[in-house]
Amino acid sequence: MAFEKNILVTGGAGFIGSHVIRLLINKYPTYRIVNLDLLTYAGNLENLSDIDSAENYTFEKGDIVDTDFVNSLFEKYDFDGVIHLAAESHVDRSIEDPMSFIKTNILGTVNLLNAARSNWKDFTGKRFYHVSTDEVYGSLGETGFFTEETPYDPRSPYSSSKASSDHIVRAYYHTYGLPIVISNCSNNYGPNQFPEKLLPLFINNIKHEKSLPVYGDGKYTRDWLWVMDHATAIDVIYHDGKNGETYNIGGNNEWQNIDLIHVLCEIVDDELGREKGSSKKLIHFVKDRPGHDKRYAIDATKIKNELGWEPSIQSEEGLRLTVQWYLKNTAWMENVTSGNYQKYYDKMYADRV
Ligand code: NAD
Ligand code: DAU
Repeated sequence: MAFEKNILVTGGAGFIGSHVIRLLINKYPTYRIVNLDLLTYAGNLENLSDIDSAENYTFEKGDIVDTDFVNSLFEKYDFDGVIHLAAESHVDRSIEDPMSFIKTNILGTVNLLNAARSNWKDFTGKRFYHVSTDEVYGSLGETGFFTEETPYDPRSPYSSSKASSDHIVRAYYHTYGLPIVISNCSNNYGPNQFPEKLLPLFINNIKHEKSLPVYGDGKYTRDWLWVMDHATAIDVIYHDGKNGETYNIGGNNEWQNIDLIHVLCEIVDDELGREKGSSKKLIHFVKDRPGHDKRYAIDATKIKNELGWEPSIQSEEGLRLTVQWYLKNTAWMENVTSGNYQKYYDKMYADRV
């Protein structure tokens, strides 16, 4: 079958990437979607098991840092566009091992930019979309929001590696005219998230009546976005965003961690038929994450006004759907927590509790 467009999605076996791939495969049957993923601990092809036999889907296992491999894919598929999500994504891991974040998030991004620049003889109709995070803007006080004009002030090895890659992507626009677009999004939640991030970790721990390690005093604020809303925003930006522009994406949904965790305990207890809120006894305040950013909050006016995108799901509804998904998908949870997971987790938390 001849496809109208060939699009490379990197990191498609991960949390957000799997939702992006599913949306694109179903919405655009005339596009061929090539998923390039290394299948690190965070990548899981089970996340795509419902669509992996679709005619317009192809999986390529490989490393975005591998120049020859990336170039060979550009030659093989003659991509019209790239949606780049592959990354090391967990802040705590970046504190333990910054180098893997530098390699994947910075060198991997440069490698993809170079492949696009050298393989795209003519940039007309091409697009390189870099998916980034609100953490590049640093930390807010009690008030205010991140806009697209907020100066970068990253604090962790993760956020500084993402900030660095954002700057390099913009440099390729200004220096070489590469048609790029960037988005910076707040905390995502929903199905398929690896249980090292707050919500899936805590849902699984509540289920097994294990301790809930709340960092510091728990009075840290995040703006939570339903992951499928992020996928629709990425679709809209990929198709309608302007070259060289940045779009902030957020959920208008700020929670202090401790309040969110209390509601989470109530929902999980309710779903498991336990006395409502009884799991709150599992909460333990532990040593804080070093350099912990106090508050993130997104002003998403630009994407709303210019591209007509808004989040569709309100927080408690999304939280309940999330809890139900993790409690139902026990085989998924068992698979991703097999192998070295428990060993890693025990080591990670040994000096916190
Ligand atoms: P994730 O950790 O769940 O998935 C990352 C994926 O990238 C995995 O499938 C992994 O196998 C793959 N990968 C890692 N290194 C690779 C390499 N060298 N080559 C090829 N593939 C590799 O991450 P996520 O939470 O889905 O985040 C996806 C992107 O969105 C990241 O760029 C992240 O910075 C950004 N982001 C995430 C959030 C969030 O809340 N999770 C919010 C804003 C932005
Ligand atoms: O803001 C977007 C970012 O959101 C993304 O770029 C990152 O890839 C993603 O991991 C996420 O980063 P956070 O550090 O905000 O997410 P995490 O789930 O690790 O933590 C959320 C909050 O909960 C944070 O304030 C730290 C706290 N926390 C986390 C864990 C894992 C705890 O109190 N205890 C925990 O065990």
